[in-house]
Amino acid sequence: MKNILIISGHTDMDDSVANKTIMSILEEKLPECRTVYLDRLYTHKPIDVATEQQNLIWADTIVLQFPVFWFSMPSLMHRWMEEVFLHGFSHGSAGDKLKGKTMVLSYTTGAPADCMNWDDFFHFLRGACQFTGMSYGGTVHTGSVSYNLRQDPQQLAEITQRAAAHAEKLIALLQA
Ligand SMILES: Cc1cc2nc3c(=O)[nH]c(=O)nc-3n(C[C@H](O)[C@H](O)[C@H](O)COP(=O)(O)O)c2cc1C
Repeated sequence: MKNILIISGHTDMDDSVANKTIMSILEEKLPECRTVYLDRLYTHKPIDVATEQQNLIWADTIVLQFPVFWFSMPSLMHRWMEEVFLHGFSHGSAGDKLKGKTMVLSYTTGAPADCMNWDDFFHFLRGACQFTGMSYGGTVHTGSVSYNLRQDPQQLAEITQRAAAHAEKLIALLQA
């Protein structure tokens, strides 16, 4: 079985519906995977670079799980990447620790999935894969899960359902 590392980039999981649902289903159905909640560990705190690098070395597949904030990943996840993917670790003449691994993108948006080509915004992550010798393993995206919609109980139930379907799709991709 592949070692799967799931990095949760949500900045406040206590205030999440979609990402919280996705993460809890992943933890239940893939108990052997390793999860890192960046908000719990690193909000206003320094990143433990050595531990994060060890997690990456352990992993065969790295899943970036995040809500889209301003057409990108949350700043906390960017900070994690900037501080952990270091010259000599992930790139540079001696930096080959990510080589041969696979990166999977898993994200949610408030806007509907079909209102634009969301993958265009994440070309930089595919560039990062190429630069570090990782393969891009595909994307799972679910739209229409805005925090604005949560006040209505029916919308809330639909968001939870969509997030559960997202988790199942991601699991199928990871097990393929
Ligand atoms: C600061 C901020 C920026 C956001 N930017 C976008 C955006 O650019 N596009 C979009 O569709 N949704 C955007 N959203 C909505 C979130 O993507 C959406 O609420 C989230 O995916 C829901 O997941 P959650 O229930 O786990 O919080 C933004 C939300 C916040 C709080």
